[in-house]
Amino acid sequence: MTDHVVVAQEEGVLILTFNRPDKKNAITDAMYGVLADSLENAERDPAVRAVLFQGEGDAFTAGNDLMDFAAQNAGGDTDRSMGERNVTRFLKALARAQTPLVAAVDGLAVGVGVTMLLHCDFVYAAPNAKFNMPFVALGLVPEAASSLLLPMIAGYQRAAELLMLARPFDAAKAHAAGIVTEIVPEAELFERARETALALAALPAASVRLTKQLMKHQLGEAIAAQMKEEGRIFAERLGSPEAKEAMTAFFEKRKPDFSRFG
Ligand code: COA
Repeated sequence: MTDHVVVAQEEGVLILTFNRPDKKNAITDAMYGVLADSLENAERDPAVRAVLFQGEGDAFTAGNDLMDFAAQNAGGDTDRSMGERNVTRFLKALARAQTPLVAAVDGLAVGVGVTMLLHCDFVYAAPNAKFNMPFVALGLVPEAASSLLLPMIAGYQRAAELLMLARPFDAAKAHAAGIVTEIVPEAELFERARETALALAALPAASVRLTKQLMKHQLGEAIAAQMKEEGRIFAERLGSPEAKEAMTAFFEKRKPDFSRFG
């Protein structure tokens, strides 16, 4: 079976590649597990001095696998009794990472594919990159502390537009909102992100980590608290009739109809 997350290492850079291009790199529970394990191990491994996220094919990632969401909506979620969910482990590891995180976004970034970028230190996007945080349109609410971080980074009005209207937006808008560090021509994108990750890995690791910690430590508790509250409401909303209608409509390839819900 193909690895849906390819884990590789090059000169102190851990490279995590979403590799499920036939499903636009949508992230399954098993993929979250690999991502969470890789980030947790990276924090413990002094040989990893930077992490680089990228996607195979024409997407960074289309976000959480909607089949998994639909199963949770239908009450078929059995993971909870087995401890913390992999997605939660992944989001916590992202938020807590002291290792610098770099992302290269080519094509689509949807849902967690965008919210995870708010935890990255360097985000490069191709001019054709398309972003969307469709949580509201799916009957859900934002996650990964994006409801705290995006208003801080982008300003309230811009965050409200992106999170509440839930429409796709382009790389220029993502850059203006502060989600993207720099827009890079597609042909140079991966090399540019790799070069930044390698440059970070070549710097004094302790100074890089401590600088990141100094910039972020005051937010740590607020991020954890926001993720917990978002997670509680998100889980409730996953069981909502609106979420069911949204997921069903997606797989039936039709527009959802929310008119009968109050
Ligand atoms: N979960 C599961 N499968 C997904 C997926 C997701 N998040 N995103 C895409 N796919 C699958 C599609 O079902 C399709 O599978 P199929 O070929 O077996 O029918 C395949 O990936 C290609 O997607 P398609 O919709 O045909 O591509 P597109 O270029 O027309 O549209 C997107 C791409 C990402 C805009 C669209 O697929 C989409 O809206 N996906 C859902 C994104 C989402 O809501 N994510 C959750 C965020 S919380």
